Amino acid sequence: MSQFDLDDFVAEAIAISKQDDAYTKIKQLMLATFTQADKVAAAIGDKYGKDVILYEDEKISIWHVYFDPTNVVPPHDHQTDVAIGIYQGTERNFIFQRTEESLTLETIQDMSPGDTLFLSPETIHAAGTATQEPVQGIHIYMAALTKISRSLFDWETGQPASFSEEVYEGLRRETAYLKRYTGT
Ligand SMILES: [Fe+2]
Repeated sequence: MSQFDLDDFVAEAIAISKQDDAYTKIKQLMLATFTQADKVAAAIGDKYGKDVILYEDEKISIWHVYFDPTNVVPPHDHQTDVAIGIYQGTERNFIFQRTEESLTLETIQDMSPGDTLFLSPETIHAAGTATQEPVQGIHIYMAALTKISRSLFDWETGQPASFSEEVYEGLRRETAYLKRYTGT
């Protein structure tokens, strides 16, 4: 990859989404692309500085994602396969296991520029920034993310609720809240 072009990347991902074994090929595309995350950063830079849906149809959703360092994305699932690549900042992912009564931290995974993370449809995660630097990356979902029925989960009880702006706002936390998991 001599140079990263976002339009070309989106077109390639859309083409792959129509093929057999699309998710495997999307993972390969993301791995190859973010191996050279500096080129992605050079091409996108501060062009967006926010979440932008670059493309969505029934087979694939492609998002530019921006995490403000002051906020935390509450626990949620996606109900589809996910591929995440980071080109700026460090994203801290909290992966949970849910039982009848609780949400238990399984692992913490930090992603720096060049890293990719792949999540299965049922995986429950929360995310924030690990430092004061904003996080920017590209997220690919193998479905129309805005149309599928997925869940948010209570931080304490693991109680699921249908994903909505209202529920999301109710579960939103400050970064300091995550110290309960990291102890720092
Ligand atoms: Fe997510």
